[in-house]
Amino acid sequence: MNTSAVAEWAAPWLLRLSPARRAHSLGVARLAADWAPRWRVSPDDAYAAGLVHDLAREWRGPDLLREAERLGWPTDEAERESPILLHGPVAAAWMREAGVGSAAIAAAVRYHTTAAPSLDALGQLVFIADALEPGREYAGVEGLRRVAEADGAEGYRAVLASTRSYLAARGFRIHPRTEAAWALVAGDDGSEEEAPS
Ligand SMILES: [Fe+2]
Ligand SMILES: [Fe+2]
Repeated sequence: MNTSAVAEWAAPWLLRLSPARRAHSLGVARLAADWAPRWRVSPDDAYAAGLVHDLAREWRGPDLLREAERLGWPTDEAERESPILLHGPVAAAWMREAGVGSAAIAAAVRYHTTAAPSLDALGQLVFIADALEPGREYAGVEGLRRVAEADGAEGYRAVLASTRSYLAARGFRIHPRTEAAWALVAGDDGSEEEAPS
């Protein structure tokens, strides 16, 4: 596994981030690695994905759009409307362009913002670690942490539900990948989480 290659490649990129974003990235990496054994995924892979996930987060929208085009990522309507959604796909494409990391790490980075129905355990773990790392402070985060610590799958479902509620309450569009991911886990008892259509 070339996870150390990922960390080595990511180091100068991490230094270009603001201190707060760098601390968040390390927080995601550490939390994902801590929880990795329970998720039956490699702690090294989880750590690597955490380090890389927000490397493009501080790029401006027009630059993300141009970079996504250069990298051959087929943007959709939601991404063109909110180019910040492209920071995951762009960071994943950078990693692949540099030839570091596995396809699984790249997928976890690519979909960390929206989630996706195709997410494997590594991708789901990185998605929730992004929302729950110790530096995150928002109403309800403690409850979500308790759910995720008790049951990873339920934690993923709860963070997805919370993401959808947050977006809906602010009138933001919910990305089709998020809706498709939610449809997979909402289950029969998902009715109370029904988002306004
Ligand atoms: Fe992000
Ligand atoms: Fe993040």
